[in-house]
Amino acid sequence: MEKNGATLLLFGATGDLAAKKILPALEQWYDEETPFARIWCLGRRPFDTADYLSLVETKGDFRLGEAVKQRMSYHRLDFEDAPTYRELGRLLDAETGTEGKRLFFLAVKPNAFAAITNHLHAAGLFATGDPEHRLLFEKPFGESLETAKAIQVRLLALAREEQIYRIDHYLGKEMLRNILTIRFSNRLFSESWQAKAIESVTVTSIETAGVEERLEYYDRAGAVNDMVQSHLLQMLALVAMETPENFEPESIRLKKLHVLEQVELDPAIPPVLGQYQGYTEQAPGSTTETFVEAVLRIDTPQWRDTRFVLRTGKKLNEKRTEIRLRFRPSSLCLSCTETVEAAPNQLVIEVFPLEGVHLHFNSKVPGYGFETEEVTAEYCHSCRTIGDRPEAYVKLLKDALAGDKTLFAGFDELLVQWRIAERIRAAAREEYLVVYPPGAVQVVRKRGASC
Ligand code: BG6
Repeated sequence: MEKNGATLLLFGATGDLAAKKILPALEQWYDEETPFARIWCLGRRPFDTADYLSLVETKGDFRLGEAVKQRMSYHRLDFEDAPTYRELGRLLDAETGTEGKRLFFLAVKPNAFAAITNHLHAAGLFATGDPEHRLLFEKPFGESLETAKAIQVRLLALAREEQIYRIDHYLGKEMLRNILTIRFSNRLFSESWQAKAIESVTVTSIETAGVEERLEYYDRAGAVNDMVQSHLLQMLALVAMETPENFEPESIRLKKLHVLEQVELDPAIPPVLGQYQGYTEQAPGSTTETFVEAVLRIDTPQWRDTRFVLRTGKKLNEKRTEIRLRFRPSSLCLSCTETVEAAPNQLVIEVFPLEGVHLHFNSKVPGYGFETEEVTAEYCHSCRTIGDRPEAYVKLLKDALAGDKTLFAGFDELLVQWRIAERIRAAAREEYLVVYPPGAVQVVRKRGASC
């Protein structure tokens, strides 16, 4: 049975993101319920719906079930061409079984956000202030601080802020949504969540894939704008934010904003930027970074002496996303000597490939003596779900359909994130780009090497 007659309009439907993440997520969702009565896939290329379906299934390496296929149509739409929007409007008007709710998902380059919204508005497809009309913008929102501001100004001439949903798909990931529970619902952790106990926090999101078919976008963005500006800084904000007044979206947003505003670069440790060997075969002469490691500090009493490290890169040895908190070594150790020390405790929040939590702590070696050894307590969150884990995009689309903005980035947070990204870039300007071999385990700057 149809849950409602909502319509999803997906812009950028022939792109990688649609084929690899958004459509597989829809497929998973339609297994549980029927969220949209109609799905319009919109792109520049001249396909019919059958050709389009076979393109995305091949590209994304998945199969769409009948429930999705029956409701899906491809429409050729030139993003800059007003008549193609009017044609789309006529098709939508002629439909039966749909109601007014429309989600416009713009999985396109940020410089097209305002122009598309403008056309939608002019063609009467999107109405200013209509709470049933919602605009979802895939990250990155802008290409820089200035362009993000300019997009927002243009959007606000056409839409109310309540109608705007800025996507950072990491916020829909299960373990990111678990961070606040882990932090605040366990006295074991909440009491020690501060610089006095924690020496460093390392946020890592590395992958084995290269830029693949996204060169045009990626070469302009680089790892700093592609990953740090959004996903990594949002992870940092969730780990470092102060206790909110309550768990309402606005209180959480304000605390995240506050902590992001206090983020500084460690002046003693410049960021490392790297590029995998072979990248310039695709992009001759390019100096775009495919790896970044930045050391940050947070200027608040809670965090003043803790080091925050953000690390992300493509074509590395594994695909892994995690947050690792390393505690200061214990001052008491029964069996330590000058050469044998107790290992520092570590708490690892694992986001991918498994979802879970590991706690590394010290224990006595079994037997008559008192030697100390490091042991691990593991909680596997993903092992408890039967079948596929909910895709981040399902959660985000579900929330957007329900009008819940908790997991969407606020504009003020985004601006601060852009400012931090720009500072990382500026601090790395004097440093040379480390060229690393595909599959590298580490990317390090050699001492004494010049620019
Ligand atoms: C996207 C980036 O936002 O996140 C990609 O644009 C990156 O470059 C991807 O590969 C990683 O997402 P995930 O969910 O696979 O960790």
